[in-house]
Amino acid sequence: MAFFASRIAPEMAQRLGRKLLVGIVGCSSGEEAWSLAAALTVQDVPYAIEAFDANQEALNQAQKPYPLKKFDEIALGVKVNKFPKSCVNYFTKHTVWPKRGVYVSPSLKRLATFTKLNVQHNPIPAGRYDAVFMTNVLYHYKPEEQVELFANVMPGLTHKGLFTVGCYKGDLTAAGHLANHFPITPMTGTGRWDGTFFTVKDEGAKR
Ligand SMILES: C[S@@+](CC[C@H](N)C(=O)[O-])C[C@H]1O[C@@H](n2cnc3c(N)ncnc32)[C@H](O)[C@@H]1O
Repeated sequence: MAFFASRIAPEMAQRLGRKLLVGIVGCSSGEEAWSLAAALTVQDVPYAIEAFDANQEALNQAQKPYPLKKFDEIALGVKVNKFPKSCVNYFTKHTVWPKRGVYVSPSLKRLATFTKLNVQHNPIPAGRYDAVFMTNVLYHYKPEEQVELFANVMPGLTHKGLFTVGCYKGDLTAAGHLANHFPITPMTGTGRWDGTFFTVKDEGAKR
């Protein structure tokens, strides 16, 4: 994800001449979305993020202050990768009750939406996303179910959109299997975080 923000997204936004629309599937309580939002902002990449999860309770947390212990994970992206230190400027720590917590900057909040969607049963909006992240989601599913999920995510990408499947629990082993079903090309050497791979869609909606 840090690789995307620092190396891929700036070039992509420049090439397309417009802001990037990034989808996050299985965003849980939003930490990954806010980390990416801060990293793209630091890189001066114009963007908007649309994040989805099947769990409404998790989505509710995405809009609220986080517990203080979450600061490093969100502000420095330590869970998904290491982001530039300047990302911390977009998060404020309040240590005293009743405001105690980690607050996301309003400038980031304007650029991200969180919507309930179960991608096993419903597609994300079609032909819309320049990049989609699905991190630590596939390991919940059997191979045939992973195909269902992919089928509901792939049409959401723009022409040559980028699909990133991150993992720490077996998502990567799904890659070869899924490449048999979809027009994706695994990319290697794209990030420091072992298990993350990027795929580029060859066919798709043009806009
Ligand atoms: C382990 S969390 C990963 C959160 C975040 N992507 C990360 O890596 O930190 C997996 C999330 O995927 C969501 N999820 C699982 N299956 C899903 C589905 N079919 N549609 C949407 N979200 C799903 C779960 O609700 C959960 O919040």
